[in-house]
Amino acid sequence: MRRRWLAAVAITMASVLGLAACGGSGGDKAGPTSTGGGESKKQVEVFSWWTGPGEADGLKAMRKIFETNNPQYTFFDAAVAGGSGDKAKALLQSKLQAKTPPDTFQGHAGAELQGYIKNGDLEDLNFLYDELKLRDVFPSQLVDQISVEGKVYSVPVNIHRSNVLWFNPKVLKDAGIAAAPKSIEEFIADLPKVKAKGKIPLSIGSEWTATHLLENVLLGSLGTDAYNALFKPGANWGAPEVTKALDNYKTIMSFTGPPQDDWQPAAQQVAKGEAAFNIMGDWAYGYFHNPPEGGLGLTSKTDFDWAPAPGTEGTYLWLSDSFTLPKGAKNRDGAIAWLKVAASKEGQDAFNPLKGSIPARKDADQSLYKDYLADALKDWSSNKLAGSIQHGVSVNQPWLAAITESVGLFIKDKDVAALQKGLVDAATANAQ
Ligand code: GAL
Repeated sequence: MRRRWLAAVAITMASVLGLAACGGSGGDKAGPTSTGGGESKKQVEVFSWWTGPGEADGLKAMRKIFETNNPQYTFFDAAVAGGSGDKAKALLQSKLQAKTPPDTFQGHAGAELQGYIKNGDLEDLNFLYDELKLRDVFPSQLVDQISVEGKVYSVPVNIHRSNVLWFNPKVLKDAGIAAAPKSIEEFIADLPKVKAKGKIPLSIGSEWTATHLLENVLLGSLGTDAYNALFKPGANWGAPEVTKALDNYKTIMSFTGPPQDDWQPAAQQVAKGEAAFNIMGDWAYGYFHNPPEGGLGLTSKTDFDWAPAPGTEGTYLWLSDSFTLPKGAKNRDGAIAWLKVAASKEGQDAFNPLKGSIPARKDADQSLYKDYLADALKDWSSNKLAGSIQHGVSVNQPWLAAITESVGLFIKDKDVAALQKGLVDAATANAQ
């Protein structure tokens, strides 16, 4: 198990060696919120990007537990809309710079969290890990991803999988595709068959979903070891294998439909039978499966189905959402109360079945994870690991911003050489 994590751990740990320890306390300065009944409650501002269909259900379930356990606090949902947090993270940056952080915010385990730690934005949570004995319940390699020099800086709520190929079984059948493509080559051969039937071969959402697709095509084309090697010092993003992967990306992108506003409408095109495939993280499962209003209430295997993204079977392209304690949080005690719910078995088992993720805790109630989620639990325990680019594991935020810029240009000019140069430059400027 340990070896599976090492590739990703090595990158982030190398980048954090020698950092000064963080610490300090923000104190409890929350202002009261009137309840209208004469008493007043302190609010706890919880910052995330889980507002949309399929995203918000899990948060609501955890909120309910928080409210039951903490009648002294009001939950203030400070979520900012936009999948993958591109808008939320920009606003968060300005709040952190202005030293007006939310009481707790969502951050991805890995390089993204290491960035917040390095900037001195977070309090360490060793006191909480000691009190709740959390080192015993989270995989130690995951704890490594959120730690610097023995101090842990967040509470992971889940493990998500990025490399899922969602598809509409009826559309595949009509196009004469017998089974989900297992390799990039098979995928590229299938896409025109769908097009010939007048359907969208591969649906796509807003710009970040193109980077999400890129990480999947890189992994599927290069294989796990070569993909993981891209994030090690001295990695060769200019290699001919990367060119080949980017050529594949260009071909696959040429079969995408009109870009949708976010990941949900792109997933919905598959649900409606307008598109055959969508490559998206398993938060899409919550959206497909959860009952309306939150989800589409679809029947799995009939209305939608899934497989590892082409060429990635046996590998879990992982990411993990975690919550933090920012330095200077107005309601520090309230934030800690939230972190306790997020860390708990009860909280994780309420959140994850709706979120479409598996729990970060090793002792969760496995019987609650059915259907796609049962597959995910099984694969998580046996697959090799690779870290997501788009969702904070393998690259820090400046590196991701540079990749996003290159992908944005590529969407317009379709120039593989320019994309590869952009990726080389992004790595050179940001790899640590
Ligand atoms: C990821 C996040 C997931 C999910 C997804 C789509 O970055 O880790 O929990 O919210 O974005 O918005």
